[in-house]
Amino acid sequence: MSLQSDDKQFVWHPFTQMREWLADDPLIIERAEGNELIDIEGKRYLDGVSSLWVNVHGHRKREIDDAIRAQLDRVAHSTLLGLASVPSIEFARRLIEVVPHGLTKVFYSDSGSTATEIALKIAYQFQQQRGERARRKFLALADAYHGDTVGAVSVGGIDLFHQIFQPLLFHVHRVSRVTSALEQAFAEHGHQLAAFIIEPLVQGAAGMLLQPPGFLQRARELCDHHGVLLICDEVATGFGRTGTMFASEQEEVVPDLLCLAKGISGGYLPLAVTVATERIFSGFLGQYADKRTFFHGHTYTGNPLACAAAIASLELFTTERVLERVVARAKQIAQLLAQEVAPLSHVLEIRQRGLMIGVELTADRETRAEYAYEIAIGAQVCRALRKRGVILRPLGSVIVMMPPLSLTDGEAIKMIAATREAIVEVCGA
Ligand SMILES: Cc1ncc(COP(=O)(O)O)c(C=O)c1O
Repeated sequence: MSLQSDDKQFVWHPFTQMREWLADDPLIIERAEGNELIDIEGKRYLDGVSSLWVNVHGHRKREIDDAIRAQLDRVAHSTLLGLASVPSIEFARRLIEVVPHGLTKVFYSDSGSTATEIALKIAYQFQQQRGERARRKFLALADAYHGDTVGAVSVGGIDLFHQIFQPLLFHVHRVSRVTSALEQAFAEHGHQLAAFIIEPLVQGAAGMLLQPPGFLQRARELCDHHGVLLICDEVATGFGRTGTMFASEQEEVVPDLLCLAKGISGGYLPLAVTVATERIFSGFLGQYADKRTFFHGHTYTGNPLACAAAIASLELFTTERVLERVVARAKQIAQLLAQEVAPLSHVLEIRQRGLMIGVELTADRETRAEYAYEIAIGAQVCRALRKRGVILRPLGSVIVMMPPLSLTDGEAIKMIAATREAIVEVCGA
């Protein structure tokens, strides 16, 4: 039996139409080096989506490998329910030094979905416990994506993923990325809202949609004015992606709850946190009998191996001046895209914030006509990219580039050149 046939026989892949998958031969990754993935035949591919937006410093980064090995010699896992652990304390202390000032308490979990789910539950319980019983609703953006668990799906707004689950979801008020609409939504619903949840600056899974400057800051003001909590979901934007450590910093916003995952462990192991202000944390303090406890926790919460990786990853941000490199690389990529990709007749728009990039394709630039869904134009372009040794993953007709922050000058040139060639091959010049 080959690995290919075993994969088809035994594995159900996420976000994948398995009928198509079964008709094709899967690319099987065996190892990696730096920013490249290597398949079982030894072929190398640039990891242009950072293994789903998680890898930060490249694969097999010596400092992170060593940190995990050292932790393995101590303990692989112990629980945070009723016990503390050395790496989870150490990472929390260091994380609080770098998150926006005013966030003070780290609640651990293990994925972006759990981080947002926890933020929603904390916000709701906080409002109920302070006597704001009417605050039972959430406000979220159109096209939002906050994960795949049922609470996260409730605040999500991508019909393709979420529509079928509608009867299972709690009701959410939804608002567009227009400041006047946001003001209107708060005026109408502010008194019923527990929290507003937002991916600050860029909505990743929606296709790299950008918010207008000042939008986040206005959201903070409106939340304060209406007694609503602000949840920033930086699962995708966090850890340097947009050119600053956290996207909220760019509008000098401190959320009440900050959700982090993906790049938190350098892209090595599942780890997530929901970081809260002291005010939120204090709202949960009381006598045992008061039942103000936050009754929530996952088995692998604060896993020591993942926390050891996260500590090493955080250190690398300083020792390797990662943020400076991101800004320079983003500028280089913006220039390359403007020269080589923007002029192509089937490119509608290029959206970029740091190393979060979306290239939107159109069937006709004049009329801005969309390609029909069943053509799967993005997937076709990504297949053509793969032949050129670059792995990208589309979101509909948007080609997404989320390379590791360690992407080199030469790799950026290769990624953009291959993207141009692939679009020309599939869509025409
Ligand atoms: C903004 C945002 N929130 C939450 C999630 C969910 O994260 P996970 O897939 O780790 O559950 C994602 C994943 O893409 C995301 O982009």
